[in-house]
Amino acid sequence: MKTIIEKINKLRKEKNAVILAHNYQIGDVQDIADFVGDSLALSRKAAETEADVIIFCGVHFMAETAKILSPEKTVILPDENAGCPMANMLTKKELLAFKTEHPDALVVAYVNCSAEIKAESDVCCTSANAVKIIESLPEDKEILFVPDQSLGDYVRGKTGRKITLWQGYCPTHHRFLTKDVEDARKNHPDAPVCVHPEATGDVLSLADFIGSTSQILAYCRESDKKEFIIGTEIGILHTLKKENPEKVFYPLSILGDCPNMKLTTLEKVLWSLEDMEYEIKLDEEIRLAAENSVKKMVEIG
Ligand code: 13P
Ligand code: SF4
Repeated sequence: MKTIIEKINKLRKEKNAVILAHNYQIGDVQDIADFVGDSLALSRKAAETEADVIIFCGVHFMAETAKILSPEKTVILPDENAGCPMANMLTKKELLAFKTEHPDALVVAYVNCSAEIKAESDVCCTSANAVKIIESLPEDKEILFVPDQSLGDYVRGKTGRKITLWQGYCPTHHRFLTKDVEDARKNHPDAPVCVHPEATGDVLSLADFIGSTSQILAYCRESDKKEFIIGTEIGILHTLKKENPEKVFYPLSILGDCPNMKLTTLEKVLWSLEDMEYEIKLDEEIRLAAENSVKKMVEIG
């Protein structure tokens, strides 16, 4: 009898499918993926791939971004309930009202938002390129940063630009507390604290390194240190340990767990290849407008 992995391998060949996985996916899913990365790298892969089908192991807005960039491809999210609470904290209606209150401002949308929000924005960004994107905009312009208040506040501090924030946030990263950093430092005094910019400003102010998931992976890979405290979603520990078997990684808190990222399993990847479900579909007018903001980001960032 064939194992799940053998079945997945047979089907992905037959259907000319590529499996993309975010750094927060469970280890088994990361291990069978053709490519594992952060949001920016995954958008790039989705745009470049010659596969006919993209199985996107991540959350809904990521698969949507792949569809925005590759409309001719079939983009599949293995679990249709894998959403992102932060992305759901801003509706199109709310963004339109926000824009009306700030008629001269430019809108920068963190990719963690729906296609409708991207379509109403001037440019997108990820946590890996947010500073660069903001710096590419005219200095005298007010910027509306949506939906993540934490990343927006962090880039405001880094760039000194006039940025007005939408009050969305990541429930997973907001579970990290300053006390977690203090305790971790007491227990592991030699370990640098690496934190994702979706964490609160209080926690970020105590970090030794702030970066996207792939930037945290690169920092730990290149550092001479032997121990690290990791302040982002715990799925990343899989790759950290795999890439650095001689180093030790401590989660800043075991509460740093995103339930949506954990919905994808090997079984669901197999079923998604068998049934070609759940396919991402987008209204072409929205897709074209969203493509504009995502492509600008890919060009700049
Ligand atoms: P990055 O991988 O781009 O750092 O994204 C973090 C995240 O929260 C995605 O949901
Ligand atoms: Fe959304 Fe946070 Fe989960 Fe990322 S970790 S998908 S931002 S809830």
